[in-house]
Amino acid sequence: MQRNEIIVSASILASDFMRMGEEVQAVAASGTDWIHVDVMDGVFVPNLTLGFPFIEGIRKITTLPLDVHLMIVQPEKHIERFIEAGADILTVHCENNPNIHSTLLNIRKMGASPAIALNPGTPAEMVEPLLPFLDMVLVMTVNPGFGGQEFIPEMLEKMRKIRKWIDEKQLNVRIQVDGGINHETAGQCFAAGADTFVAGTSIFRNSNGYAAGIRELKNLC
Ligand code: DX5
Ligand code: ZN
Repeated sequence: MQRNEIIVSASILASDFMRMGEEVQAVAASGTDWIHVDVMDGVFVPNLTLGFPFIEGIRKITTLPLDVHLMIVQPEKHIERFIEAGADILTVHCENNPNIHSTLLNIRKMGASPAIALNPGTPAEMVEPLLPFLDMVLVMTVNPGFGGQEFIPEMLEKMRKIRKWIDEKQLNVRIQVDGGINHETAGQCFAAGADTFVAGTSIFRNSNGYAAGIRELKNLC
């Protein structure tokens, strides 16, 4: 199995929104590789979060890659604005998206790194034909919408399947996991082929501090 270096992407959904700037700087100083930004529209998922001005603001205070996870309907309408706002990695969901292939091509053409996300109820097979057009597959390990949920272990099988296809096709595609990721579940995901770990609660609510939370995830291999 070809392995990429481990990446930790801190999900600011679990941070203190009233102190977002300080929180981003603190988690950057604590060793996160990427900043994960959850964009929710109240339609694709039953929750509302951050939009363009927040991303522009975060872009101004860190040089770390912004890993923007779009949980919105018709993401293709907003790709350009998210990239202009500062997104480096743009993840779109494959559910109910008949134009996903062209959306991915557009993301790359506009200068960002394209990734696709699968909800827990979405089969791995949805992503197989798209693998050559992607830099990363996000296997959701909870139902999207909220932080602090419990990891769904059945998703490990989905990671194994996708990892096998990536290796067989000799592609360089990351497998990211998001939802209920802590040092225990991250270890299981790593063994199943994941290399990119989104974590909110286990970093921002870690009783030993942000750096300890990030270190625990990084040390899993
Ligand atoms: C959930 C979001 C996640 C969330 C993860 O819909 O996509 O990024 O912040 O939170 P934790 O790590 O607390 O499960
Ligand atoms: Zn996310």
